[in-house]
Amino acid sequence: MTRRTSVGAALPRRGARAKVTGSARYTGDVALPHLAYVAVIPAEIAHGRVTAVRPEEALARSGVLAVIHGGNCPRLNRTGAGDLAVFQSPSVAHRGQFVAAVVAESPQIAHEAARMVGIDYAADPHRVSLDIACDGFRQPPDHGPFFPTDCSHGDVETALSNAPVRIDATYRTPPYHHHALEPHATVAYWQDGALTVHDTTQGPSGTRDILAHLFGIGPDRVRVIARHVGGGFGSKAAPRAQVVVAALAALAVGRPVKTVLTREQLSVVAGYRTPSVQRIRLGADADGHLLAVSHVSFEQTSLTSDHCEYPAAPTRTMYAAPNRETRHWRARLHVPSPTWMRAPGECPGMFALESAMDELAVACALDPVELRLRNDTAKDPHSGRPFSTRNLATCLRLGAERFGWAERDRLRAEYGDGRRLVGMGVAASTIPQYRFPSRAGVHTDGYGHYTVRIAAADIGTGARTALAQIAADALRVDVDQVMVEIGDSAYPSASWAGRSSGTTSWGTAVVRACEALRTAIGRCGGLVPDGGLEATADTLGELAVARTHSQHAFGAQFARVTVDTSTGEIRVPRMLGVFAVGRVINPVTVRSQLVGGMVMGLSMALCEEGVIDRTYGHFHSRDLSAYHVATFADAPEIEAVCIDEEDFHTSPMGAKGVGEIGIVGTAAAIANAVHHATGRRIRSLPLSVRRVREDAAASGHGT
Ligand code: MOS
Repeated sequence: MTRRTSVGAALPRRGARAKVTGSARYTGDVALPHLAYVAVIPAEIAHGRVTAVRPEEALARSGVLAVIHGGNCPRLNRTGAGDLAVFQSPSVAHRGQFVAAVVAESPQIAHEAARMVGIDYAADPHRVSLDIACDGFRQPPDHGPFFPTDCSHGDVETALSNAPVRIDATYRTPPYHHHALEPHATVAYWQDGALTVHDTTQGPSGTRDILAHLFGIGPDRVRVIARHVGGGFGSKAAPRAQVVVAALAALAVGRPVKTVLTREQLSVVAGYRTPSVQRIRLGADADGHLLAVSHVSFEQTSLTSDHCEYPAAPTRTMYAAPNRETRHWRARLHVPSPTWMRAPGECPGMFALESAMDELAVACALDPVELRLRNDTAKDPHSGRPFSTRNLATCLRLGAERFGWAERDRLRAEYGDGRRLVGMGVAASTIPQYRFPSRAGVHTDGYGHYTVRIAAADIGTGARTALAQIAADALRVDVDQVMVEIGDSAYPSASWAGRSSGTTSWGTAVVRACEALRTAIGRCGGLVPDGGLEATADTLGELAVARTHSQHAFGAQFARVTVDTSTGEIRVPRMLGVFAVGRVINPVTVRSQLVGGMVMGLSMALCEEGVIDRTYGHFHSRDLSAYHVATFADAPEIEAVCIDEEDFHTSPMGAKGVGEIGIVGTAAAIANAVHHATGRRIRSLPLSVRRVREDAAASGHGT
């Protein structure tokens, strides 16, 4: 009898019951005896320095335990992340930066006393608007070992000027906030010089290492626990300032402390996606074959962060063109630090590229699906390597068939009624495949029970379920025999839940540990000794080997829209995404990731817009009443389909990562559908009611 594999089975998510019944404990739920509470005090100026902190009135309030600030706080070791140098300098780099914190017996007292602390500032002039007319743009550094900031191949200018068909367009995206359901929080305590934190982190091992460095203690003296994490989208990928504040506060009062940031504080402390201004120039022959592609992107960062999003990077691998250039420019402004957000680079970058491809299709009088098929490529134009798998064409063809793409002009003609216009749009998706070194352990008691341990984080992806399925197949046992313990840096070190790499990185380490355990059991003659057997393995060695293939996931997204030309309202009644993401570990959790990403892309297209106040240098849009996100009522009939694919270059499971690709291309598909419906091209997101009406008015149509 052959065992049915667990990988591929639509198993319900482990922990789902605990989550929906409220028994799953998140960081903010952690209760400890003698817990004290921290409230942070944000800077009120956008640039300058703190000249004095006057804590006396707050300290006199009953229940206040301490006020910590630059004048009384221990020195921390420096890290590459300037935002973690909490209370280390009087400089203020942006409004909202933490300048002091109050520790008290209750959260209410802490927040009340925080308003009683006097802070004096010396303000300097600030600059907070990303304006490409200004100078001050610099070339950001290369993205570590992953890719260079700029690249150029051939003679783009000559090819563009000789091209029979040309597109030259500039696209704009605003700042985006992650706004995970769970706000950032930390519970911290010290015991005999060792630090324990419960923290909202996407990577317990990474957070442990950074805390150990900051406080100058060995990593074995720091433990980071994150049993459940209520969403992250990149905002919890690197440790944020609140974990440092909590560790400092616990040290100051000699008690465990809890810090929970308010929703308003998240917009400045949790990071956000940089706004972008992207100019794309395409040159093509009359049949739509690309001759030249130029993608130049402008973005911002803060004075304290080296972050860069690299939106032009996906353009390097998307389409064949003999002449190509991609460039990035970045300005340092007196703004909060941006950070990674779901599909960093690809999300805004593919909005620009896939909108421009739609413009090219119109200019060539070609079907937009056909244009993309004509520019498909068997090898990566940038690296010259073959793709591990590239099934973009299959996704486009299958999607077009399922979505009724052939009917799109008939649909527009028949259903548009003058006031309500109807259209369909398409865009391609892509995401690079990263796999990071991890270690995993697996133990068996000899009675058919297996326990996998790895310091992974489940940020809502269903990691426990997927890893159990992967382990069950590697051990050749039933999935019910496998327990998975994650979310604790005390377990074998793992990479973070980011860059769509969690399942492939951790899963590979789990496969190796399971193989090692089977070998160990074999060495015992198949008999597990009393007390059980344990094996660990890591993937450091296998990931040090140079890549032979270019590894990316691909997809095609289709959207149908209606545009009310009198109100400016856009509705999206239907979306379809077809994805080539390798082998599907679990159709339930994979679908959740893909559909969730598509809803986030819909939200980006229609609603989301971070707005910075030029006078005060902070976000106007600090809560969910000012920063609109799509709700259930906005979400259409969404279908996410995965084609049959296996990619054993990316992981021994044949799987690729699925966390991010769903958001890539969605906004372009919607904007392209709006163009199909209205004939109007809106190149700045969001496609808000105001923008649609303004555009209609400018065109002399509608209101
Ligand atoms: Mo993601 S933006 O790499 O958590």
